[in-house]
Amino acid sequence: MNISIIGGGAWGTTLAQVLADNGHNVLIRDINDKFVEKINNTHLHPFFDLEIPSTIKATLDLSEACNYSDILVLCVPTKVMRSVLHEINTHINTKKLFVNVSKGIEPETSYRVSQIVEEEISKNKLKGYVVLSGPSHAEEVILRKVTSLVAASKSTEAALEVQNIFSNDTYLRVYSSDDVIGVETGGAMKNAIAIVSGVASGMGLGENARAFLISRGIKEIVAIVQALGGNIETAYGLSGVGDLIVTASSMNSRNFQCGLKIGQGMSVAEAQGSSVQTVEGIRAIEAGYEIGKKYNLDLPIISTAYQVVHDKIQAKDALKQLLARSLKSERYW
Ligand SMILES: NC(=O)c1ccc[n+]([C@@H]2O[C@H](COP(=O)([O-])OP(=O)(O)OC[C@H]3O[C@@H](n4cnc5c(N)ncnc54)[C@H](O)[C@@H]3O)[C@@H](O)[C@H]2O)c1
Repeated sequence: MNISIIGGGAWGTTLAQVLADNGHNVLIRDINDKFVEKINNTHLHPFFDLEIPSTIKATLDLSEACNYSDILVLCVPTKVMRSVLHEINTHINTKKLFVNVSKGIEPETSYRVSQIVEEEISKNKLKGYVVLSGPSHAEEVILRKVTSLVAASKSTEAALEVQNIFSNDTYLRVYSSDDVIGVETGGAMKNAIAIVSGVASGMGLGENARAFLISRGIKEIVAIVQALGGNIETAYGLSGVGDLIVTASSMNSRNFQCGLKIGQGMSVAEAQGSSVQTVEGIRAIEAGYEIGKKYNLDLPIISTAYQVVHDKIQAKDALKQLLARSLKSERYW
């Protein structure tokens, strides 16, 4: 089967290898000509410099990529997702299945990617939408290390199709789900808590403090998932807690690394700018904060993180603020 990947960075090119391993033909579209050349001419992953199957091709031409297949895998940073989808809509004339593998929420609207797809892609061009997410560092998947994901769609048929396309019996196991809201929201919000966990490490706090912030952070992710209409089991599954486990304490996570630098005293702008790769977590903190206000949720960690990323308080004062809150029962909602 032919499959197009829009966005050939760390994750997009890694998924291209998964698809090639599973016998599919892949065309990647990226705006970075160096990446496109590297994939086509040297068959190396643009970030990891590891050999990838020579059957994987890349192009700068969005129209070519859109018309190469009926399945478009979306792997661009969420901040450009709306404009990329807008452009895609002008290039396609037939119905496509959109598979989103990016993890983020649009802060201005608090929209998940499925909602942006619905707004930007005309109904007569939208065959279906699936979100594919879970605990998956590209650094490990590119080495074909065992990984699990979840494919969620309102359409069981579409979820099962994506589950089959990406799964193999050597290193990638995909589960299916009908909870698009839960998978998208958990996948986005875990990056917010990963930043917080990084900040704690950067400040020199210990494992106890990190476990405290991560566990209480999970409660906040669950509250947001529920408020938006997702299922609590999804929040505790692969795309929520599963992804948080892999993200919140690993140097492979650029969200964790970004938090680490903030905790060490770097400004938010510098910490974000120091990563050549996409850091979604700062925007997730903003989106989480807005959702909390809208649904009147008690989100002390995300609200405090919001104050830190907006330079309203220093990380050390944020910690004091959290510790000074009135004492609570662990089950307070
Ligand atoms: N890296 C991982 O391990 C991983 C795993 C799962 C999910 N994700 C998610 O995947 C998304 C992308 O992450 P990444 O790690 O691949 O980021 P990245 O920064 O490595 O790659 C993003 C790519 O998008 C390209 N791009 C930017 N604007 C574009 C446009 N308008 N059209 C086409 N391409 C464009 C960039 O040139 C770059 O190659 C993020 O939402 C991230 O959270 C990443």
